[in-house]
Amino acid sequence: MASTDADDCKHYIGSVQDVRQRCRTTAEVGGRKVTVFALKTSFYALDDKCYHAGGPLELGDIEEINNDLCIVCPWHKYIIKLSSGEGVYQGIDPATKKTEWKTKGVKQRVHEVVVENGHVYVRLNLAGKLDCDRYYTEEYRKLMNED
Ligand code: FES
Repeated sequence: MASTDADDCKHYIGSVQDVRQRCRTTAEVGGRKVTVFALKTSFYALDDKCYHAGGPLELGDIEEINNDLCIVCPWHKYIIKLSSGEGVYQGIDPATKKTEWKTKGVKQRVHEVVVENGHVYVRLNLAGKLDCDRYYTEEYRKLMNED
């Protein structure tokens, strides 16, 4: 799939009640594996295959870092903000010798969650090119025998 295509379609995920009850719902959405997280009062949707090596984010732990909910990839523990898809890590400020959270920039594709009349939908965000897009190419699908 070309990552520069716009997608104006809303893809049905489930009723608000069901999505909240499951906490995590993974679905095939427009040729991508997307996971919707229902946490506190918010919904977040992002590509399920981690930008680093394709790990299944649906199985990751949730951590709150600097007031941002993040998913910790179960494979190599990379941390990704659910709201923005930024990869974050803890670095040391050489001047102060204190640790601080830093960003690697947006690495994981996040999608828009639409809630209407008690139902949850995802509208794909396909703008630009991100590291995680490599797992949604024809070459990758063939390599992994996903077709
Ligand atoms: Fe996610 Fe390596 S695959 S951290």
